[in-house]
Order: sequence, then structure tokens, then C-alpha cells
Amino acid sequence: MMKSYDELVEIALEARKMAYTPYSHFKVGAALMTKDGKVYKGCNIENAAYTPTNCAERTAFFKAISEGEREFAAIAIVGGYEDREELGLCSPCGVCRQVMREFCEDDFKIILLTGQTNGENTYEVYDLPEILPLGFGPKDLKVK
Ligand code: THU
Repeated sequence: MMKSYDELVEIALEARKMAYTPYSHFKVGAALMTKDGKVYKGCNIENAAYTPTNCAERTAFFKAISEGEREFAAIAIVGGYEDREELGLCSPCGVCRQVMREFCEDDFKIILLTGQTNGENTYEVYDLPEILPLGFGPKDLKVK
């Protein structure tokens, strides 16, 4: 069963609770849904050496890929400082967009939480080429 975008946002909010962020205190959660409706959660995982930090989106992708998943329908992303009561927009970084490009088709949906007024989640939905125009991906290489 496929989850609704509302449900995916809720799962991303659950995933965000696991974020390990002693340095930035900025917590991000992601919920990545495969084409057959399975959902992999991800959170950001920081590191004292800073650069090994992994974003929530890539955590979700790498969990799924490492379990054999290859076909993805959508990802919901939520994020903000840990002391914020209502979250606003958290847009995925360029590295995570490039990881999406590696594994997703052009109709892959990116669901971004935009606000939480009166306990109600609002979000926007984007296609991959909208957030990564002129992207370079597997189709640009002869060897796959
Ligand atoms: N971060 C994510 O996990 N995903 C995003 O889309 C933006 C940034 C993380 C990385 C780092 O742990 C913290 O947020 C601040 O950059």
C-alpha cells in the first residue's frame, strides 16, 4: 500500500526524533517510499570531525539501497532547529539531490514540509528536475 503525502510527512517527523546533532542542533528527518510502498526512515547523523556528517535524506537512501531497493516514488523531508515548535522549509542539499539523481526517475516526488500552523502540516511537492535542473546522472554515462 502506498502512503499518502500526509502520512509520509508524519513518518519523516518521527524519523527526525532520532537525529544525532550535538554540533548544529539542527534536526532533519526523511521518509523515503519505494514504488511498492515500503518506507525507509532517515535522520541526520553528525560527527565531531564535521565532514563525516550524513544528511537525513542520504541516510534513508543508503538504508534502502543497502537492503536491495532500487525503485523509488517519493521522499518527505522535514527539518529545523531542535528548539523550534513549528518547523518551516528545509530544502535538501546539493549532495542529496545528486544521490536522488542516481537512483530516481524524473517523476520522483520531493515533499517538503513548509509549515505547521495550528498543528496542521503544510507541504509542497516537487519533481526531481525542478530541484536539480540540468542534472548529470547515470544516463549521461555509457557504462552503467
Ligand atoms: N541536513 C540534512 O540532514 N538535510 C538537509 O536537507 C539539510 C541539512 C543536516 C546536515 C547537518 O547535520 C545539519 O542539517 C545542518 O547542516
